[in-house]
Amino acid sequence: MMKLITLILLMMLTGLEADYRRDVKMPSIAFGIKVDRGFPAMQRNCQWCHSLGYILNQGNQTKEYWNKIVLRMRDTFKAPITKEDEVTVTEYLYRNYGKNN
Ligand code: HEC
Repeated sequence: MMKLITLILLMMLTGLEADYRRDVKMPSIAFGIKVDRGFPAMQRNCQWCHSLGYILNQGNQTKEYWNKIVLRMRDTFKAPITKEDEVTVTEYLYRNYGKNN
C-alpha cells in the first residue's frame, strides 16, 4: 500500500500522469478510390478496420491474390464477410485493381 501511495505521489510530482486534456490531431489522408457497382459492398466490409490505403498500397494484383486477401480478413481477422460479399468484393478489387498473372 505504501509503495502504491509513493508511486502515485512520485507520478504526480514528476508529471508522469496521463495528460488527457491535450488535443491530439490525427493525420487525415484522402484516397482516390474507384467507385462502381461493387463499391458499396467493399466499403461496408473493408473500411471499418483500416483505411483504404491498405488496398491501394497493394497495387494491381491477380484475382487469386485479392480473394486471398478477402479470405484473410475473414478468417484471420474475423471480419464478418458473407459468401456473397466475398465474391462481390473480390470482383470489385480485381476489376479496379487487377492484373493478369
Ligand atoms: C476486422 C477488421 C478488418 C476488416 C473488416 C478488414 N481488414 Fe484488412 N486488415 C486487418 C488487419 C488487422 C490487417 C493487418 C494489419 C497489419 O498487419 O499491420 C489488415 C491488412 C490488410 C491488407 C494489407 C495486406 C495484408 O494482408 O496484411 C489489405 C490489402 C487489407 N487488409 C484489405 C482488406 C479488404 C479488401 C477488406 C474487406 C474485404 C478488409 N481488409 C477488411 C483487419 C481488417
